[in-house]
Amino acid sequence: MTFENTAVAQDSHFLHPWHPFDYYKDHGPSFMVEGKGCHLYDENGKAYLDAVGGLWCTNIGMGRQEMADVISEQAVKLCYANPFGNLSSLPAAHLSAKLAELAPKHLGHVYYGGGGSDVLDSAFRIIQYYQNCRSKPQKKHFVARDRAYHGTTYAMASMGGIASNRSTDLDFITETIHHISAPYYYRNAAPGMTEEEYTDSLVKEFTAKIDQLGGPDKVAAFYAEPVMGGGGVIVPPKGYLQRMGRVCKDNDILFVADEVVTGFGRLGHWFASASEFGLEPDIIAVAKGLTSGYQPLGAGLLSDQIWSVISEYGRGRVLTNGYTYSAHTVACAAALKNIEIFERERILAHVMDVGSYFEEQIKTLSDLDIIGDVRGLKFMMGIEFVSNKRTKDLFPESAGIAMRITKASLQRGLIVRPAGHLNIMSPALIMNRADVDFCVRVLRESIEATMSDLRKEGLWSPHGR
Ligand SMILES: Cc1ncc(COP(=O)(O)O)c(C=O)c1O
Repeated sequence: MTFENTAVAQDSHFLHPWHPFDYYKDHGPSFMVEGKGCHLYDENGKAYLDAVGGLWCTNIGMGRQEMADVISEQAVKLCYANPFGNLSSLPAAHLSAKLAELAPKHLGHVYYGGGGSDVLDSAFRIIQYYQNCRSKPQKKHFVARDRAYHGTTYAMASMGGIASNRSTDLDFITETIHHISAPYYYRNAAPGMTEEEYTDSLVKEFTAKIDQLGGPDKVAAFYAEPVMGGGGVIVPPKGYLQRMGRVCKDNDILFVADEVVTGFGRLGHWFASASEFGLEPDIIAVAKGLTSGYQPLGAGLLSDQIWSVISEYGRGRVLTNGYTYSAHTVACAAALKNIEIFERERILAHVMDVGSYFEEQIKTLSDLDIIGDVRGLKFMMGIEFVSNKRTKDLFPESAGIAMRITKASLQRGLIVRPAGHLNIMSPALIMNRADVDFCVRVLRESIEATMSDLRKEGLWSPHGR
């Protein structure tokens, strides 16, 4: 299909996610028209290295003919199959078995959604059902963290903890969803505190929250991204996830690992919670890299323990949850091909090599005067800007620091994402070393140019360091 060049007018009918009403009115929509590998191309054919990877998702890279072929073949053969009850499809069955094979051994049962939000939302409902099946109907409180992002269904937006997403113009569930601190050592640890002491304080806060909610009999589950993404690429202090996992196990609280970003290779593993952090979650949610953006699909992996409760104690009941498009045939076929490409091209090993180089090279930017912290792992990195390195003071919102650097980078052919006082990078996992060098060089130039602008505008001075 070719699209006529009337798109700007057409787009005004589209309510975008995070629709910026004023900005949209003034600037209109912005388009990319083609993607190949880790590059995007605009209407004039200008190339950009997409260090955002779409939105943390184009993991195997864009424009692969064999992905298009498998999608086309499946669409012609069986474009849709009703997944309700005992009805199934070959792509759904094969993908479920493949995910069970790749996942930690105890996570052998899979359900599906169209992306991350609805899979995590289904986990919320499955957990309520699980607690009811085992005659623990009082166990209904959920704990999440400040700065968390788990999507935007009503329950998952309520689970979220990014302050700017919790507008007073929107409603949230507050009776059964509660928050504790993010493991944000750079900004929240008391001066002089070691990582271990900081972790102690976070674990204490969690146990105090459980007590405050009425004890373990009242708390159903804890939701956590192994490395927090949209909330600021926050890598937890060593041992934090294992210790939070221990608190969950000791108190019969389920641990939901939101691996929508960290799964499917971003940190060099199929699932990072177990392989990178030694955690044994009860549910893992994946989406994004599961199809590398070629089709919308999310999957939740359930532990054998949850499965045995909902299938044995749940006898005579039906779990009335799922969607018309759960395990969509075309999306499942795309996921299977995506996994085949990961395996054939040894993409996890590539991330261990070039992702480590990316991490190391991005960290070299930390000598710049307005960079307070550079953090992340492999192909998931964030740069936090400060007006003063020593005091860690932030720039005023009105300076729009991250957006300035995004714009400066864009002019130079690089896409990085602004998020509060950070720029975030999550490129396609197939980037090579030359792509990494380009990205780091352009970022350095863009940050230096921005520092010079800020100085000229009287918004910053290097003496404030
Ligand atoms: C960690 C995390 N969880 C859940 C979601 C929601 O996924 P989706 O937008 O596919 O619903 C996202 C999206 O960015 C995410 O980053």
